[in-house]
Amino acid sequence: MGRLIIVSNRVPSPHERVQPVGGLTVGLADVVRGVESLWFGWSGQHAEGAAAQDVTCETVAGVTYATIDLTSAQHERYYEHFSNDLIWPLFHYRPGIITYHRQDLAAYYGVNDLFADRLAPLLRPDDTIWVHDYHLIPLGQALRARGVTGKIGFFLHIPCPPWSVMRVLPCAEELLRAMAAYDLIGVQTDEDARNLGECYEVMGLDPTVRAFPIGIDPRGFEQEAKDNVGDPEVRRLRESLRGRKLIIGVDRLDYSKGLLERLHGYEAFLKRFPEHLRGVIFVQIAPPSREGVANYQALRRELDELVGFVNGKHADFDWTPIRYLTQPVPRHLLASFHRLADVALVTPLRDGMNLVAKEFVAAQDDADPGVLILSHFAGAAPDMPEALLVNPYDTDEIADALHQALTMPLDARQKRWRALRAEVGLNTAAEWAKRFLSTLEASAPSS
Ligand code: ADP
Ligand code: F6P
Repeated sequence: MGRLIIVSNRVPSPHERVQPVGGLTVGLADVVRGVESLWFGWSGQHAEGAAAQDVTCETVAGVTYATIDLTSAQHERYYEHFSNDLIWPLFHYRPGIITYHRQDLAAYYGVNDLFADRLAPLLRPDDTIWVHDYHLIPLGQALRARGVTGKIGFFLHIPCPPWSVMRVLPCAEELLRAMAAYDLIGVQTDEDARNLGECYEVMGLDPTVRAFPIGIDPRGFEQEAKDNVGDPEVRRLRESLRGRKLIIGVDRLDYSKGLLERLHGYEAFLKRFPEHLRGVIFVQIAPPSREGVANYQALRRELDELVGFVNGKHADFDWTPIRYLTQPVPRHLLASFHRLADVALVTPLRDGMNLVAKEFVAAQDDADPGVLILSHFAGAAPDMPEALLVNPYDTDEIADALHQALTMPLDARQKRWRALRAEVGLNTAAEWAKRFLSTLEASAPSS
């Protein structure tokens, strides 16, 4: 069997190479274990000039990590503008906030060509190549143009909108045509697969598109949650609650996560169910993401203002309704924070999957499980019907769900949690990767 080649914009950082974190890295770590593999992508660093484009290789536990730096101009146009100020909002059904410039499209192709130029010489004919996410849609085509003949698969981690939204993208057909060069295109949900299928139908193309919902490493996360409950930081959180119920939110600071709507929902809850005043604490952890992009900067300012407003309005001398943290929290603490929580608010306006929902479920225990409040518009929702499903735009529905979750009897919570835990245990990250790769191996060549 040949090697497995993983390509993604972000490659696990050096400490993650020893102990991987995050759904994608954990899942792929399981797959690359025991298989000769190479992981190629951006180093996360900026450098100017020709040296930026040299490949640096490091092998850890049998996996070779091959990375290149990007210049700040490449980073700005390819990553911040084209990937995260155009494709990201559009694919999350937000055509109203996209920004399009032809120079950004050229830079996007430029970086994909650069990836292909640097990766192609490292490849062997029997390698299987798996490319990840929207930063690298044209990479398969660029590799084929450089004579690469092995199987090449692509997985889109974010949602795929229908043609009526997709066609807003001035280069939609060109990009979708490039995507069709892959031997297999994986998406998160059946809805995404239908939408992409519809786009290809309009274009008269018929590439292989299948849904492979991504999962987590539930046992690993559960173990982290259990192992760290005695950690001094976790004890500090528990003691600070003084018996109050804990509502938790964990997200990158991203407008797709519905953070403003969630805060409005929480405020509606405080107003409409005053019996919970002083009896709950909402901890929202939201480290900033993509800080060079204006929409992310604006969201941060709005969140600062709204949190201040809600706290100012409802706080008492000795109680603050929201604790809002923008510093990242280490993963082992996060797992135990989830375990302490009575309710998780996972209310994206649109999300490819949302691993946080699955992590919350894995971190809970049967004796006193917490309740998951989940947006209909998370990719996780179709497989998690036992969550309290809400429309995140309906602040009163969020308020009602919070009241229902906080007053739900133990047997009802256990019933819901057991069903959710079974689902999270079945569709793990390792299973996801196995399913994708075996389908890729069995696929007919795309051309
Ligand atoms: P996205 O891929 O859009 O960030 P996911 O819900 O799929 O959304 O989250 C990806 C991973 O990032 C999860 O494993 C989650 O635990 C982690 N993560 C998200 N927010 C935080 C945070 N505030 N601190 C630490 N890790 C986080
Ligand atoms: O899951 C979607 C995704 O965009 C990944 O591709 C990405 O690595 C992650 O979210 C975090 O975003 P970023 O790499 O832009 O910080």
